[in-house]
Amino acid sequence: MQTTLNILALTHSDKTSKDISAFLDGVDGVVANVQLQEGGIVLPGEDGLPDVLLYEVVDPSSAELVLLENFVAATRGKTIVLAIGRSSDTDLLRRLMRAGVRDVIPSPLVRQELVTTCTQLLSDKRIKMEDANGAIHAVCAFMDAKGGIGGTTIAVNVAAVLAHDRKVKTCLIDFDIGFGSCAHMLDLKPTSFVTDAIQQADRLDVVFLKALMTEHDSGLHVLASPANPASAADQLRPEVVQKIIGLAAEIYDVVIVDVPRITAPWAMEALRVSSRGFVVMQNTLAVIRDVKILLDYMPHVGIDMHKIELINNRAMAKSQSVSIEQLKQTLGRDRIHRVRNDYHSALAAADQGIPVYKVESGGELLEDVRHLANSIWQTHEPVASGRSSFLARLFNHRKATPN
Ligand SMILES: Nc1ncnc2c1ncn2[C@@H]1O[C@H](COP(=O)(O)OP(=O)(O)OP(=O)(O)O)[C@@H](O)[C@H]1O
Ligand SMILES: [Mg+2]
Repeated sequence: MQTTLNILALTHSDKTSKDISAFLDGVDGVVANVQLQEGGIVLPGEDGLPDVLLYEVVDPSSAELVLLENFVAATRGKTIVLAIGRSSDTDLLRRLMRAGVRDVIPSPLVRQELVTTCTQLLSDKRIKMEDANGAIHAVCAFMDAKGGIGGTTIAVNVAAVLAHDRKVKTCLIDFDIGFGSCAHMLDLKPTSFVTDAIQQADRLDVVFLKALMTEHDSGLHVLASPANPASAADQLRPEVVQKIIGLAAEIYDVVIVDVPRITAPWAMEALRVSSRGFVVMQNTLAVIRDVKILLDYMPHVGIDMHKIELINNRAMAKSQSVSIEQLKQTLGRDRIHRVRNDYHSALAAADQGIPVYKVESGGELLEDVRHLANSIWQTHEPVASGRSSFLARLFNHRKATPN
């Protein structure tokens, strides 16, 4: 079931009603019920509370504000109240803030502002629901749909870009115990490995885990794989994977996990506890077949498919035999990330053991990796650093970090 943000908009003017309907029309996951209220406000009862009450304030009598205040108290934060009003009226803004209104959207409405606010709230709702499903914030797992498709290249470079460009506290966990190449791609010489964490899982805590990390000059911390096929992962227990990822999420703002394509319970656990799971694929029939098998399997092991996204790697390569539209149709997805084929940058980075941002004239690979990193940071930034609302910004008052 797709997460939907239900908005009840109570307006006093025809123009605001029309603007809300037009601006939110077609915004994925946002459903707005717009009601023009000419004869005073009637707030919804406990049944069928919306996620968001969007309330237009024109000239609020104190009775109206008391009603809003009561509504906030009665719904105990289940419904977020946003006001639409004149942002230049600081007295009104203060009163709204005291009444428990989360934010004020300046009127007349601007499409981008309204859409950004709503999509942000939708994303917050998704995160909350992931929490309820046992997912851990800010954890992105990457799994290949077939060997050698580029999952590690993308995971390593997204992690390095987050740490380097955005200065995000990021770690990269390489669960490809037999053949992992994350450390190698970054020319690191680790002296401790993910297997140390696995073998001593009972005494693992945040201090110990941090000590096992190898630091890259981008600021990225890597929990490296020993790349030793003899260190069989067969015995790895899902609880241990969950513990390692959970502790990492306590230390870092974003945790990137490179998961080999194995359907063993421990590998599936890495996807299950992640807040976003990326299946890396290529646009050829053989790979698409495997993507389908993998996607069909995941729900059977408790993976919430709404957080599973696809990345079409080496996009636009000559070898790609299926159009992107056919691909979306076949896989039943309306959105697939794209990382273009960029042999020059990929080869230069791999040969020198450097992230693509260090490759001269980075190219399309870097551009697409940065795009992905941005998408990841946009989802997690509010969780990592707290979000400042219009009211909070105005009154220099930071809200508590939603968590
Ligand atoms: N977008 C791209 N453009 C060009 N070459 C790429 C791209 N992405 C990855 N490659 C190249 O593809 C090869 C395989 O990449 P990588 O090792 O990341 O794959 P993998 O799927 O993680 O492999 P494994 O199955 O061993 O885990 C590497 O040589 C890499 O440089
Ligand atoms: Mg790999």
